[in-house]
Amino acid sequence: MSAPPRHIVIAGAGQAGGRAAEALRARGFAGAITMLGDEPHPPYERPQLSKDMLAAADKPVAYIKQASAWNDLDVKLETSAPVTDCDAGRRTVATADGRVFAFDRLLVATGTRPRRLAQLESCGLEVQYLRNVEDALRFRQSIQGKARIVIVGGGVIGLEAACAAAKHGCQVTVIESEQRLLARAFPAVVSDLVAAKHRSHDVTFRLGATVSGTTPNGLRLSDGTEIAADLVLVGIGVEPVATVAERLGLPAAGGIAVDSCGRTAAPEVFCAGDAALQWSRCHGRAIRVETWANAQNQAIAVAANMIGEPRDYNDPPWFWTDQYDLNIQVAGDMLDSDHILRGDVASGKFSVIAMRGSDIVGALSVNSAKEMAMLRRVIAAARRPARSDLESPAYDLRAALK
Ligand code: NAI
Repeated sequence: MSAPPRHIVIAGAGQAGGRAAEALRARGFAGAITMLGDEPHPPYERPQLSKDMLAAADKPVAYIKQASAWNDLDVKLETSAPVTDCDAGRRTVATADGRVFAFDRLLVATGTRPRRLAQLESCGLEVQYLRNVEDALRFRQSIQGKARIVIVGGGVIGLEAACAAAKHGCQVTVIESEQRLLARAFPAVVSDLVAAKHRSHDVTFRLGATVSGTTPNGLRLSDGTEIAADLVLVGIGVEPVATVAERLGLPAAGGIAVDSCGRTAAPEVFCAGDAALQWSRCHGRAIRVETWANAQNQAIAVAANMIGEPRDYNDPPWFWTDQYDLNIQVAGDMLDSDHILRGDVASGKFSVIAMRGSDIVGALSVNSAKEMAMLRRVIAAARRPARSDLESPAYDLRAALK
């Protein structure tokens, strides 16, 4: 790589941007750091937006640091300053208010935004999305008084929001286009368990259905039926915010492609977090990893690479979701694989190991955090314990790490 950087610009002040800025200083980078974010807040963690913040009115925003602490770290944080332009030749980025910032290394950490549901763009219903602090506060306020909440999308956002609304006594219906919930990451046995748990809290599901239009007081579905709604929350996945990459001429369809150091195809430009399209050994293909853990740990590794300290990042993806009293954690890839069940589904405490041939490519735990901690280590170390061992309830996973 060329000369060490003197001025690093971070486009995006979310979890990835914030953790990268911290890591640069922790590694002794003494040059200028400018972090540009489109939100009015300093970087904060998002998991609690669809969990604790919906459950409790007094839950504060999980800022990585208070605004003044970025100052103390000599990081120039510009909030409400979305990056709208970028000049690769001049090595500058521009914000919406016309300011221009020069860089000699750029980190793109612009993350993702919710996919919009076109059918609801200009209807008379109240339609919400859940991505940032304001969205969470608005939804929390809404579920205090709204009787009929319709949630479009039975993924992690939709179902965590359904938990909160059901606990507030709302009448909740979830519309999911697939035939089962959480199909993007979960095996069917866990989709069924989650559905049963929600049904026991009076949540109704319309599986294999989509929204085809609106009625004066609700939604019309693809099967012709109608549902009354006081509020619609849409959680149908996210898409990468790729303005910067597009301005730089980088291919950005499906994410911004990076190598294991977080380098893009443009010299001096790196990417980390939800927007990065990175190789996943577990999946056997490049994917975007939309998780809290990736936003933090990839950003920390990429920060080192930006200042010339080579560091490969290849952590297996890992995330968790809380559904009532179920803590569910997923590592690696659970799809297109053979599954080994450890424990008893009926007990509500078990894990599932995903195998392709003799490789462990994924694991899921329900209320078994300790077992998941071991499984994550086994997957990260690419250990290959015998299938017969994994099938034995008596087998101690620690043996696989020796
Ligand atoms: P998602 O991809 O998890 O779920 C979207 C769901 O909507 C899928 O089940 C999909 O089949 C369904 N869907 C798609 N189009 C539809 C349509 N037209 N009608 C009905 N259903 C449709 O995405 P989600 O839940 O929106 O989450 C957004 C982001 O937030 C993701 O990046 C996710 O990883 C992140 N997140 C992570 C959490 C965690 O780590 N625990 C918790 C909450 C969100």
